[in-house]
Amino acid sequence: MVENTKNEPLDGLSASIERAASALSRGDLVVLPTETVYGLGADAQDDRAVAKIFEAKDRPDFNPLIVHVAGLQDALRLGTFGDVALNLAEAFWPGPLTLVVPRTLDCPASLLVSAGLDTIALRVPASPVARALLESAACPIAAPSANLSGRLSPTAATHIDPLISRHVAEIIDGGCCTVGLESTIVGFDGPDVYLLRPGGISQEDLESVVGAVTTGASDPAKPSSPGQLLSHYAPMSPVRLNAQEVRPGEALLGFGPKMGDLNKDGMHALNLSQSANMQEAAANLFGFLRQLDSYSPSAICVMPIPEIGLGVAINDRLRRAASPRAGETSS
Ligand code: TXA
Ligand code: MG
Repeated sequence: MVENTKNEPLDGLSASIERAASALSRGDLVVLPTETVYGLGADAQDDRAVAKIFEAKDRPDFNPLIVHVAGLQDALRLGTFGDVALNLAEAFWPGPLTLVVPRTLDCPASLLVSAGLDTIALRVPASPVARALLESAACPIAAPSANLSGRLSPTAATHIDPLISRHVAEIIDGGCCTVGLESTIVGFDGPDVYLLRPGGISQEDLESVVGAVTTGASDPAKPSSPGQLLSHYAPMSPVRLNAQEVRPGEALLGFGPKMGDLNKDGMHALNLSQSANMQEAAANLFGFLRQLDSYSPSAICVMPIPEIGLGVAINDRLRRAASPRAGETSS
């Protein structure tokens, strides 16, 4: 139970919050208010539900998502915090600050929220409605801003585009967002602190707690939004796209009912989706790439995947994985 004797914002919202919590546990999407902007939320532990977010937002590629948790204890199950990250969490949580930290070894969050990276973006929201939902749903909630890709972030429930709402089981109308600006995103490289996105907490506020903060990505070769980096997640093994046959030593990443035609005995093969379901394929993508990579094949060959719906994002990620790596020359 959430104690909320003083906070007006929860008045009349309990039923909506309860419906949203059960929608999350069924693997459905919800729209939730936070103090920054409205979020499009899914159970962060559910691969299929997280894949639905990308589908609903019409994202052309898989950008990693912010995972919202009820408090630091929950955050520590998902991410590994150094001293500096801990200091920032203690100073600014709950509030509009997102910390990008390494995933824990047994991190229960979907690999899709990290878009295949080894890091996870975590935030404890201050909004009493978001907090009540986190408590009631009892799961971490992956939530990007609830706008279509490339559009303005919504700061009131009335801003939610019908193209988003049709994918959503429940919209919690918590009124206008008090901050109205997305969270500040901070990343770390050893003791150094990097401002990856300016937002609700100012650089000065951060610096009053941790000293100098550098603007931009930790590595100049990495753009601040990792989705823009060409080979930002690549397996160790080379990746060969649009495979029509499997060559000796290769592992097969299949798609659709025809995989059996290529699959031979003793070969490492996984099917992203036997029924050619894009949501299922997206949900499996990063986990399957990692699993095939662990067999150290001469290459991971990938069957063609249609450029339809989430197929666009899946192919975008696969092309990045197949592109020449840093230190390699393209020939
Ligand atoms: O205020 C906010 O942050 C809102 C509310 C709903 O919490 N959320 C939000 O999410 O603005 P979104 O998806 O619109 O922006 C998330 C940003 C993206 O720019 C993404 O690249 C970055 O977070 N991000 C997420 N995970 C990351 C990671 N592991 N490394 C670097 N950047 C990450
Ligand atoms: Mg956004």
